[in-house]
Amino acid sequence: MQDAEIRQLPELVGQEVRVRGWLFNKRSSGKLQFLIVRDGTGFLQAVVFKPEVPQKVWEDAEKLGQESSLWVVGTVREDKRAPGGVELTVKELEIYQLCQDYPITPKEHGVAFLMDNRHLWLRSRRQHAIMRVRNELCFAIREFFYKRGFVLIDSPILTPAACEGTSTLFQTDYFGEKAYLSQSGQLYLEPAAAAHGKVYCFGPTFRAEKSKTRRHLMEFWMVEPEVAWMRFPELLDLAEEFVSELVARVLDRCQEELKRLERDTSKLEPATRRPYPRIDYADAIAKLQAKGFSVQFGDDFGGDEETALADESGKPVMITRYPAHIKAFYMEPDPQDPTRALAVDMIAPEGYGEIIGGSERISSYELLEQRIREHNLPREAFEWYLDIRRYGAFPHSGFGMGIERVVAWLCGLDHVRETIPYPRMLYRLYP
Ligand code: 4AD
Ligand code: MG
Repeated sequence: MQDAEIRQLPELVGQEVRVRGWLFNKRSSGKLQFLIVRDGTGFLQAVVFKPEVPQKVWEDAEKLGQESSLWVVGTVREDKRAPGGVELTVKELEIYQLCQDYPITPKEHGVAFLMDNRHLWLRSRRQHAIMRVRNELCFAIREFFYKRGFVLIDSPILTPAACEGTSTLFQTDYFGEKAYLSQSGQLYLEPAAAAHGKVYCFGPTFRAEKSKTRRHLMEFWMVEPEVAWMRFPELLDLAEEFVSELVARVLDRCQEELKRLERDTSKLEPATRRPYPRIDYADAIAKLQAKGFSVQFGDDFGGDEETALADESGKPVMITRYPAHIKAFYMEPDPQDPTRALAVDMIAPEGYGEIIGGSERISSYELLEQRIREHNLPREAFEWYLDIRRYGAFPHSGFGMGIERVVAWLCGLDHVRETIPYPRMLYRLYP
């Protein structure tokens, strides 16, 4: 007799196996009890037939409450109607721990209650599916870069300076010195691009955003490529190739999960096809004004504007050449109009908002020094960053993609809180 994972059972028809897991659900009818067991790899219907099992097995099955931990031994049988096409005819049942008061019952629960029980909520069918999609996306991201010769460079989490503005920094004490949780690994990637050419980082980033929206987390995972000698037009191509490949990959590998989430996947199909629409910032302003928004040239976009800018085609859109003053200090000015930056934001369709922010970087020492001054940034903390323009300056570009917003889009969720195992949000640090 062998131990088996539920996902392996279709290959083990006719054999006797032991499956270890938790009771997901149960129903009974006369001499039959149907135990739905989950083990993380799938869901299995284990059938207990009273005349064919010892009395104790029957009684134990009757006692079982939701999420009791257990193992069952039995024969794998083909059953076209069962999930996975198989069920188990139970011979033995062993309760590891009887559980009779699991808080998350199949009835509806409020969001606050579910968030307080996030550590248990992860076991639900929906949350299970979302984490699988996230897992697939992360793997696809790493593969995308690995295949193209990018080198993974992990950036530090504790840093002495800000990357994306000083208003959203989490500050901590570093043996008497001020330290901040990283908002982005970008500044540390640029030197690595001089060492390796094509690099990326992928890790947690932190923003003390006092905003309570369905798109913001305090802690989120960002993947950031940085490429030496890459100019702005190629950066747009890279972002487009990246996102279209990731969407195609998840559509291909996560069919079962997306079905469980009742995601209308036809809405994702257009994003697998390139090119994506590209809109100059000035045209985006005009488009918004025509739709009745009261935005002026020079304004940044909020969530509503982003939603309105999303394309009817169902593809992400890339907004380019933002006014320099609403973007970060390190962005290369547009040679045709230096008041604009060679910056891009990619906006996902269906109201999911900005998923990518990127730019060509300033390569001139003098200009970068001037920008650090203009933004009132502490020069000492950026000396090392200026070195990259002192010793072999080179044009380079990169972007950052927050994966939680992408998971929300792929899964069709109305809030990013379900896209990360343990969300950190305004007023939520537990569990
Ligand atoms: O546009 P952002 O701020 O860009 C940067 O941090 C650059 N340094 C990246 C780079 O060029 N290497 O953030 C990039 C992306 C956003 O487009 C969004 O997807 C995500 O990070 N993001 C957030 N996701 C969830 N919650 C938040 N509070 C987020 N802030 C940014
Ligand atoms: Mg941005």
